[in-house]
Amino acid sequence: MKQLTKQVCFVTGGSRGIGRAIVTAMGEAGADVAFTYQNSSAQALALAEEVSAKGVKCRGYQADVANTEQMQEVIKQVIAEFGHITILVNNAGINRDKSFLKMTKPMWDEVMRVDLDGVFTTTQIIAKDMAEAGSGRIINISSIVGQTGNFGQANYAAAKGALISFTETLARELAAKGINANVVAPGFIDTDMTHRLTEAALNQVKAMTPMGRLGKPQEIADAVVFLAGPHSSYVTGQVLAVNGGMYM
Ligand code: NAI
Repeated sequence: MKQLTKQVCFVTGGSRGIGRAIVTAMGEAGADVAFTYQNSSAQALALAEEVSAKGVKCRGYQADVANTEQMQEVIKQVIAEFGHITILVNNAGINRDKSFLKMTKPMWDEVMRVDLDGVFTTTQIIAKDMAEAGSGRIINISSIVGQTGNFGQANYAAAKGALISFTETLARELAAKGINANVVAPGFIDTDMTHRLTEAALNQVKAMTPMGRLGKPQEIADAVVFLAGPHSSYVTGQVLAVNGGMYM
């Protein structure tokens, strides 16, 4: 039996990048996987087919994590089709970078809505269900930027830092309900998000990383599978940094 057989995993923002790697890794570990995507229906359908071919159930649902009604509807549908959600991975996230003195309020608000409000909504709906069932795993994808801050990312750093203290609080409140809550804090990972960086910025990142390279989405997914699985049963409220040694 695979380590996540009989588990039902829900991943936000699953159609590309780190989310896609998490959906695939969860399926490979034996879990049924439901994921949300924003626009790319064709990509989501292809991913669902690819993962289903591994012998698990997998389906994508179109939803904006910042839209409470949409998330309530989608989660209801997922529970009806998959059964209780046992693993939640809050992965969806955006950045809107500008140095602080030039950052506009809409840029601040947009990041908060997706990276923080979206996590609140999704987690509250699913955690209630997990609490009733008496078990569950919540894994929030933060960032190295939430631990250190970063030039041009006051909004993103604030949201990702808040995600860490939010998770620590969940861990304290929900342990008695059998729920573990942890954070994965990636360093700079090779996805669309970092493809937008200039060559000079990427070289600077590599120079500041002891391993001298960006991370791969799979390397984040491996950490998520660990935190979802039986080998992390006594781990809660922790930040698992997967960053090539960039911050320690
Ligand atoms: P990406 O830009 O490739 O993917 C982001 C995902 O979030 C996409 O699937 C997108 O559709 C989804 N998303 C964005 N806004 C959404 C919304 N309103 N509703 C639903 N889904 C939405 O980025 P990547 O790199 O895969 O990022 C995944 C997570 O990892 C994010 O939370 C990001 O902040 C975090 N992260 C990424 C790092 C990197 O270097 N790539 C480093 C540290 C953290």
